[in-house]
Amino acid sequence: MTLAPSRRALLAGALGVGAVAVVAPPRALAQAAEAAIQRHAARIEDLIARMTIQEKAGQLSLFGDPFRFRPENVNPLDGQGDPARIAAMIRRGECGSLFNGIGAEAGRTIQRIAMEETRLGIPMLFAADIIHGLKTVFPVPLAEAASWDVDLAFRTAQAAGREGAASGVHQTYAPMVDVGRDQRWGRVVEGAGEDVYLNQLFATARTRGFQGNDLSRPDSMLATPKHFAAYGAAEAGLDYNTTDMSEGRLRTTYLPPFKAAFDAGALSVMSGFNDLNGVPASGSEWLLSDILRGEWGFKGFVVSDYTSEQELIAHGYAADGRDAARIALLAGVDVSMMSGLYNAHIPELVESGDLPLRVVDRAVRRFLSVKAALGLFDDPYRGMDPAVEARVVGSQAHYDLSREAGRKSMVLLKNEGNLLPLPKTGKSIAVIGPFGQDTEVFGPWTIWGDKTRAVSLEAGLRAALPAGTALTFVKGAEAESAISGGIEAAVAAARRADVVVLAIGESQTMSAEAQSRADIVVPAPQQALAEAVAAVGKPVVVLLRTGRALELSGAVKDAQAILVTWFLGSESGNAIADVLFGDHAPSGRLPVSFPHLSGQQPYHYDHKATGRPMDDDQANREEYRAQFRETPHSALYPFGHGLGYAPVTYSGLTLSAPTLAWDGRVTVSATVTNTGSRPVEETAQLYIRDKVARLTRPVRELKAFQKVTLAPGASQTVQFTLDRALLSYVGPEMHLTLEPGEFDVWIAPHAQGGLGGSLRLTR
Ligand code: BGC
Repeated sequence: MTLAPSRRALLAGALGVGAVAVVAPPRALAQAAEAAIQRHAARIEDLIARMTIQEKAGQLSLFGDPFRFRPENVNPLDGQGDPARIAAMIRRGECGSLFNGIGAEAGRTIQRIAMEETRLGIPMLFAADIIHGLKTVFPVPLAEAASWDVDLAFRTAQAAGREGAASGVHQTYAPMVDVGRDQRWGRVVEGAGEDVYLNQLFATARTRGFQGNDLSRPDSMLATPKHFAAYGAAEAGLDYNTTDMSEGRLRTTYLPPFKAAFDAGALSVMSGFNDLNGVPASGSEWLLSDILRGEWGFKGFVVSDYTSEQELIAHGYAADGRDAARIALLAGVDVSMMSGLYNAHIPELVESGDLPLRVVDRAVRRFLSVKAALGLFDDPYRGMDPAVEARVVGSQAHYDLSREAGRKSMVLLKNEGNLLPLPKTGKSIAVIGPFGQDTEVFGPWTIWGDKTRAVSLEAGLRAALPAGTALTFVKGAEAESAISGGIEAAVAAARRADVVVLAIGESQTMSAEAQSRADIVVPAPQQALAEAVAAVGKPVVVLLRTGRALELSGAVKDAQAILVTWFLGSESGNAIADVLFGDHAPSGRLPVSFPHLSGQQPYHYDHKATGRPMDDDQANREEYRAQFRETPHSALYPFGHGLGYAPVTYSGLTLSAPTLAWDGRVTVSATVTNTGSRPVEETAQLYIRDKVARLTRPVRELKAFQKVTLAPGASQTVQFTLDRALLSYVGPEMHLTLEPGEFDVWIAPHAQGGLGGSLRLTR
């Protein structure tokens, strides 16, 4: 039995959080793009007929922008290039696009070279890594995923897109939709975490936010889901490492977020660095042509990741640069980033007959078609208006949104004795740790964030507290090294204070690309600091800055309160103060499981049962079960977990019927009650388990969620509708399938608890 892929499942979740804007039909976008492409089809064909083979190769060659390069553009290792050289290349038609330069006025100058000083006057495309904001920086994508608020993700992507577009950028290399199930992998910070469904929702929201309803609008930016595909499954969490998996796992876990982004209208995609099952992704015709275009009907263009087509050589898949260019083009990499291999080899490859001209023409046609969809053939200077740039970039509305996003992205892991929120008066606070006063709050992947407007924790706390409040700051340790006398000073400050705020975790450079960690712990010098400070005996609040889930231990794990603050962007300090002092209650939920121990990685809540499942009740720990000697096979803080400032209970799970007919529907509901004295926003989560199937299914899978706001003492019923589409899975035939039988169902506050029932699907 084959089912059409369920849009309803996506909509159910999106609607659950009131995401009206996000669920506007992507059809309008596709139609606008199609109309623009059709309008320019004859011109594109005419250009293809008139372009020399070198001009075609050049059109497909992308380089770092040397005109607007700044040293902090860390990634274009050699993108700084020589502006005169690149200008000459543009004039000769040897460069069709540039990346990682911003600025409307300078963009016009470069575009003018392409329009007025080249033989054919084909507009350039400008791309950039605008991952979670341009000048205004929003929380890192992993943090924002912790909001479980797709409407928020839509709005921050829209704001980032508007800042980018107003700065003369047409394409962003985002969203990253790689599912991150191994917290050693540093790029977990760039995605939406370990769950497939959450990744699909955020892929959809971000794509729509960047692109809007019409790509040709001057405030719209082309989205580029990356890194296609399965890049996040690197062995040992080691960035760039091999990925090797069954087709079932690929289609169940790693492909759906990409599909969601394309369904939302993304018209470009970046091919990954990784080797997948023996074929590097950037040389894989199966991925880039058979699946992407054959199965999914993708109409946009594929850009390689930074020299990933050249890396086919290092992978041992291509003999040399010529071979690499040939393989990549044949596989379906249309545009080559940075390597220069297309310029160097396409003419000769075609001349010698080793590469059919139609393959080159195909890539040029795809690329020019997206340029047409972006409106570049109508107005090559679209979006390049310095007056608009000055108004839009870094606007107050964007900073307000950043603060809202920051508040909603924090996750309260524990709060013993209701230590939080802290009172604003009457207590002296010692803020201890490397992250009390610094402004490294943007996270690891921000090139143009306005540092002058980054709000440190100190600035945020001081702004929130009455003047004269006793507030001391002691660093105590650097992120990864000790400070001489640091611990002594910290202990002295803790002694003098009523409460200690430990601002610790990972520095900005410890996550993101190439920043894999073998041991995902709080670095030893900070752990030592935490131990010494805790020994003083004052109440301790941990503010955990991190780009991944961590193993927590000792004084950090035992602190009375732990608030995960990730990297919250421009308004970090203000957002933290909003939550710390209770002006806003925390509402985030973990998008990644916090393990008991590092060695559990890769860990994800939706693992298989195994033939020897561990007993959930650790008191019954038996031998010869799927568990470690040192730890149960579970999370310390599971996926989905997060507290507010009031306790919430779940009761009365009810199924509208014990059986679900093949074409029927069953509703499952439960009552959620705020039993505390403060308002709370609860995220009720629907999980299922397919008990018997032709392929074994995970112990739980998230299928939907709903946010409910509850006043003190208030109750509300949450209700989810189940139909068979929601229960389907990728079966042995490699497409969605389903068999009648028994399903477990939970409405739960997180992946390791909740109220369970069961349901029989009948045909
Ligand atoms: C990264 C991509 C990024 C590209 C361009 C690569 O190193 O893997 O995510 O978009 O560089 O900066």
